[in-house]
Amino acid sequence: MSSRRVLYLIACAAGPTRYVDEGVRVAQGVGWDVCLVLTPSAARWWEPRMRELAELTGHPVRSRYKLPWESDALPRAAAMLMAPMSCTTLNKWGAGIADTLAIGLPSEGVHLGVPVAAMPYFNQAQGAQPAVAVSVERLRAQGVRVLIGADGYPPHPPKQGNAKAFPWDRAVAALS
Ligand SMILES: Cc1cc2nc3c(=O)[nH]c(=O)nc-3n(C[C@H](O)[C@H](O)[C@H](O)COP(=O)(O)O)c2cc1C
Repeated sequence: MSSRRVLYLIACAAGPTRYVDEGVRVAQGVGWDVCLVLTPSAARWWEPRMRELAELTGHPVRSRYKLPWESDALPRAAAMLMAPMSCTTLNKWGAGIADTLAIGLPSEGVHLGVPVAAMPYFNQAQGAQPAVAVSVERLRAQGVRVLIGADGYPPHPPKQGNAKAFPWDRAVAALS
């Protein structure tokens, strides 16, 4: 069994999730034992290559809540990083809606003393919705480190995102 600290890397259906294997490698490179959790929408993007992610992490990739009689598939997390966080998941989480495992784990975890960080990836038009600023404040008030703006990811102009250049290293570094 690994003695490395376990990180849940939680990814939504936002551009950089196409390259989430890079995020896994960055976190592994600084010593984390990474377990990957995807939203159901994000899991669709990786459906044909899900085995690659399981092999890379050495853990099953989770995207749904377990059934009541099933035991936990993942080891306990020492920290959780939601990256990239979609605009939709940010607003659901901010409103207290945990209808995906991807929200359920950090929304409870942060109140159980687990360090939780979240780096969004969406454009300025999505970010202009009044709900976004409210959700960011609500998460921060609960102790979530929301990495938006100058010290995280600043929303990009529409059609000008560069998902491949998502700063995984900055997101992972926020947990140290
Ligand atoms: C190809 C594609 C790319 C998308 N990229 C983003 C994105 O970068 N950021 C974002 O907030 N939403 C993006 N969306 C919209 C989200 O996928 C959508 O809001 C979805 O409901 C998010 O669900 P999730 O947060 O549960 O993964 C994209 C949708 C598609 C189809």
